[in-house]
Amino acid sequence: MAWYTGNITYDTLLLAAFGLVFFTIIGMCFVKTPYGRFGTERFGIRLDPRLGWFLMELPATLSFLFFFFRGRNAFDAVPLVFLAVWIVHYANRGFIFPLKMRVDPGHRRTFNLAVVMSGWIVTALHGYLNAVYFTEFGVRYTLHWLADPRFIVGIAVYYAGYLLNIHSDSVIRNLRPRQTEGEPRSGRYSIPRGGAFTYVTSPQYLGEIIAWTGFAVFTWSLAGVFILAITAANLIPRARENHRWYREHFADYPASRRALVPFLW
Ligand SMILES: NC(=O)c1ccc[n+]([C@@H]2O[C@H](COP(=O)([O-])OP(=O)(O)OC[C@H]3O[C@@H](n4cnc5c(N)ncnc54)[C@H](OP(=O)(O)O)[C@@H]3O)[C@@H](O)[C@H]2O)c1
Repeated sequence: MAWYTGNITYDTLLLAAFGLVFFTIIGMCFVKTPYGRFGTERFGIRLDPRLGWFLMELPATLSFLFFFFRGRNAFDAVPLVFLAVWIVHYANRGFIFPLKMRVDPGHRRTFNLAVVMSGWIVTALHGYLNAVYFTEFGVRYTLHWLADPRFIVGIAVYYAGYLLNIHSDSVIRNLRPRQTEGEPRSGRYSIPRGGAFTYVTSPQYLGEIIAWTGFAVFTWSLAGVFILAITAANLIPRARENHRWYREHFADYPASRRALVPFLW
């Protein structure tokens, strides 16, 4: 089954990863991932979302660092650039984002443990597949890669998406007061406004999908395609559900706002 790198373990896990994308696409037709506004007792134990996010994302950092520094080319320039991108990304998603989250005092446990556990498979695989490819199998990652149009365009797209994602995360976070500021201003949820929320309900997801598109391009690897595919498989249906939810819960929800793609959908 050596179809990509020639390493049977890597190639088998890569195939399994794409199998997981397939099952995620099917699963998302039937289930709304149970966290946040769609968290439910039906799926068992629920955690504080700050703990849930931290635990779920942790393997992306741990497995990446573990496999990265075991790689033969770990200290080459291009893998080190990728390492820097990864560290900044997961410092935000795995540590800063959960630390800054503002939890509604009346609904502290909204993150189902089942989401954390299924997330572990994705985040651990994602860390492994990318770290090993960057440091072992990525034959094109010589210094020339930094001047290759795929790297230049890909990294520009990645950071455009990343900035959209963190800006939108920050707009939505500020809808709730800090824990020290007392009760929520206007109930558990309110309508986000400004920035890319003018155009779509879930610009944080749009930013995430754009960022991983850029990542797949600037790393030019199937490991990058895997994280893009599984992100899209999760976030496109959730963007549709979020949009439907806002329209059902807010009579004054802006009619011209689309779900995920400005002016289109
Ligand atoms: N790569 C991937 O596969 C993947 C998958 C999922 C998420 N993500 C990323 O992770 C980040 C968070 O995702 P998410 O699905 O949790 O997004 P989210 O719906 O934006 O929720 C983020 C935070 O904002 C709160 N919030 C949401 N809508 C609100 C509103 N209308 N009023 C007040 N507070 C509100 C949520 O509270 P509650 O928890 O109480 O709802 C939560 O604390 C996003 O940047 C997303 O792109 C990535």
